[in-house]
Amino acid sequence: MKPTAMRTHMCGELRESDIGRQVSLCGWVGRRREHGEHLAFVDLRDHTGIIQCVIDTGADVRSEYVVRITGVVRARPGGTANDALPTGAVEVGECAVEILNVAEPPPFPVDARADDVDEAIRLKHRYIDIRRERMQRNLRLRAAINSAIRREMEQNGFLEVETPFLMPSTPEGAREFLVPSRKEPGSFFALPQSPQLWKQLLMVSGVDRYYQIARCLRDEDLRADRQYEFMQLDAEMSFVSQDDVLEYIGRAVVAAAEAVTGERPPEIERITWRQAMERFGVDKPDLRFGLELTELTHVFAGTEFKAFAGAGSIKGICVRASEYPEAAAFGRNKLDALTDRAKKIGAKGLVWIKVNGADLESPVAKFLSDSEKSSLIAAMGAGDGDLILIVADEWSTTCEVLGQLRNDIGRPPVHEGPYRYVWVTEFPLFVGLDKTTGKPVPGHHPFCHPHPDDLALFETDPLGVRALAYDLVLNGWELGSGSIRIHEPALQRRVFNILGIDDAEADKRFGFFLQPFRFGAPPHGGFAFGIDRLAAILAGEENIREVIAFPKTQSGADPLTNAPTPVDAKHLAELGLRILPPPASS
Ligand code: AMO
Ligand code: AMP
Repeated sequence: MKPTAMRTHMCGELRESDIGRQVSLCGWVGRRREHGEHLAFVDLRDHTGIIQCVIDTGADVRSEYVVRITGVVRARPGGTANDALPTGAVEVGECAVEILNVAEPPPFPVDARADDVDEAIRLKHRYIDIRRERMQRNLRLRAAINSAIRREMEQNGFLEVETPFLMPSTPEGAREFLVPSRKEPGSFFALPQSPQLWKQLLMVSGVDRYYQIARCLRDEDLRADRQYEFMQLDAEMSFVSQDDVLEYIGRAVVAAAEAVTGERPPEIERITWRQAMERFGVDKPDLRFGLELTELTHVFAGTEFKAFAGAGSIKGICVRASEYPEAAAFGRNKLDALTDRAKKIGAKGLVWIKVNGADLESPVAKFLSDSEKSSLIAAMGAGDGDLILIVADEWSTTCEVLGQLRNDIGRPPVHEGPYRYVWVTEFPLFVGLDKTTGKPVPGHHPFCHPHPDDLALFETDPLGVRALAYDLVLNGWELGSGSIRIHEPALQRRVFNILGIDDAEADKRFGFFLQPFRFGAPPHGGFAFGIDRLAAILAGEENIREVIAFPKTQSGADPLTNAPTPVDAKHLAELGLRILPPPASS
């Protein structure tokens, strides 16, 4: 870095080649070791690292004081070099110390390992937490991702356009944050769940290729991969096919990953949603491990075993003793727990079978014929010591239950290498029927284009209709999703009608969005991926909070500012709001 008025060098950059040089450094006082009354070894820290300063003036510098030290770089005396430190061969001597600010003792040591400090305390004093190496590294990694994305998108002709935060409520799926209007009491803006509608309008506007690193807000329950506020690389393109969109978004992801890991990920694989469900039981498959689902319906086609007879779909996973010795050897308690877990997810039960040589040990072994047993072993490729788990149910339940068990048994933490990216394509347009209305429920937002080959099924078998919709998955996390959109007003109305929204209601609710499509909308499609999620995985972190400067806690609060906080009565009155007493807890 270039010198500034107060410093000539950064603490972490001094090396043996600087020996003899007079330097001025600024930073915070880290560890301090006393050597007699007037001699102290002080670690001076800035964001680039630490350097040992030898202070013999008796200056009273304490932990986290902000100081400027001017001195001379010299070799550390023989035997005292610290190989673990990039600056460990040198130190700064003949130090003149200027105290720029004093500091109260910090609530936790800045050089302690991050996981030694309670997260609530870290977040309450986030400004101190961010002084630490882990957060400095993560924020810089995140910035490198943003920077690589911007470069790549610009090179590919995407125009950065900023879109409004205050907008009407839209049907995107998540619960929105609402903002009361002072000028029109009783009316509300919604904060964007994503710039979805704006970017589609920009396509109608002839922008052709849009992108934005956009803040999105959703009032959801928080988890390791979810915050109220998060950032997307949001993009939309005109006159494209799905392949075009995947190519350009893929380029941005690859550029971001390469910028921070130094390694270019291989070409991103593709599988269809149906393949993902059949093989992995989930729509965000983690390809880092096997334990794939095996189709067994044909094995038990004529079975007399009640639980399997007549089931729509029978599948199993084989927990191999060679790969998962612990799980393959589960005893009764563990197997009961696994069965309970399967039932919680929605299974009627779980069949487990242990392969003991030629013998099958299972509570249901007596219900299976010899030929079923041998076909089962062959289908699963099971060997001695392996554990087979089988679920029979509707196809979707069978897949889901085994997919979860597969993850429970085999899935490594998300941030552990290697990185396995995969596109999942051909998501279903609708994901089931609404229990009360009986109408199909959209899988994504209602603006996804149906697969052209499936238009004929629309009214007869809506649940069989695929969408031109796709997700990007990394190590079992959904990184992003997108679709080719509907640009034909008549088709959009048809989709709304199937959802039970008639033309009048569609006009009332989304007229502002539908009307522009009557004025010449180009075919278009796009995508958005979560930058927090990508940054967390590439930073080797298991929670996106670790790559966000000022995140909310799991319960949705900010311990630093204490937000959310009540507001005074005058402020509420201005907005025409009155607070009801909280509902009695049941
Ligand atoms: P979707 O709703 O799938 O699609 O969101 C895209 C990506 O945004 C990230 N994400 C989140 N990250 C952190 N916290 C959250 N609460 C959160 N919610 C979502 C995920 C997710 O994959 N407009 C569409 C995209 C499109 O069709 O173009 C959209 O927002 O990584
Ligand atoms: P039951 O006939 O209900 O006593 O079940 C016998 C065994 O089959 C138990 O181990 C159940 O957990 C299991 N089971 C029951 N229904 C299913 C199912 N749909 N799929 C897999 N296993 C099942």
